[in-house]
Amino acid sequence: MSYENIEVRTEAGKVGIVTLNRPKALNALNDALMTELGAALKAFDADPAIGCIVVTGSERAFAAGADIGAMASYSFVDVYKGDYITRNWETIRSVRKPVIAAVSGFALGGGCELAMMCDFIIAADNAKFGQPEIKLGVIPGAGGTQRLPRAVGKAKAMDMALTGRMMDANEAERSGLVSRVVPYDKLMDEALGAALIIADFSQVAVMAAKESVNRAFESGLSDGVMFERRLFHALFATTDQKEGMDAFVNKRKAAFRHE
Ligand code: HXC
Repeated sequence: MSYENIEVRTEAGKVGIVTLNRPKALNALNDALMTELGAALKAFDADPAIGCIVVTGSERAFAAGADIGAMASYSFVDVYKGDYITRNWETIRSVRKPVIAAVSGFALGGGCELAMMCDFIIAADNAKFGQPEIKLGVIPGAGGTQRLPRAVGKAKAMDMALTGRMMDANEAERSGLVSRVVPYDKLMDEALGAALIIADFSQVAVMAAKESVNRAFESGLSDGVMFERRLFHALFATTDQKEGMDAFVNKRKAAFRHE
């Protein structure tokens, strides 16, 4: 399938890479881009050879937010009834394989929200995160007020949402928003390195790990621990559990078959 607003490629046949590509608008996320992103993510998710996905942007911008020009004249009825702007934003949440955001430059508004919808964020040292919607007379609309406090706590989330200020990569790492910060020229090596490690593990176990960590944000501790235990038990039904443990016991590298 050919895309106009994103570029799609694979690494070593097992990592899917989506590059947001509207450079003139700093990768502003319009409806067409989000539809293409959703389609590309679903296609990688359905491809048995792919074990992990990386979403990235350009050096200057991961994404500077939803497309302000496109939404400036919408009415309440447009956005409420037609679910404009946000209608295709949830696709990424249905992806069951891990998605890593490799962020350089601006990740603002919907761009920050998109990065936070990924499973973890690796940032270049020039990355800047923010929820500046307040400056436009609105508030975040794709999870910014919900995922940001879960990532960085109330104090920082309120500061960001109410002042609209940006957080640099080091503050984002200190605050728990990103998992790693690397120099810009190492960003894709770092993200692909992580993605290739993940892709070589048992896909079944990787999907279970993702599902279980996400459950931590949807349930109380006892329910979450029980959910984890049931998945842990279930993995003993897989060939990959036998392979992984046999490889450890016999001091060899495991060769997972994703079954
Ligand atoms: C549309 C955008 C854009 C955006 C930048 N551009 N951000 N177009 N939507 N979100 C365009 C500019 O209009 C400009 O186009 C070009 O990209 C370069 O931007 P400049 O402003 O000239 O660059 P610079 O001075 O370096 O400033 C960079 C910036 C600034 C700080 C990122 O562009 C900015 O503040 N952008 C808006 C950020 C924002 O408010 N995001 C939240 C959006 S609301 P031209 O044609 O003039 O060269 C949102 C809600 C999500 O995301 C809701 C959930 C779906």
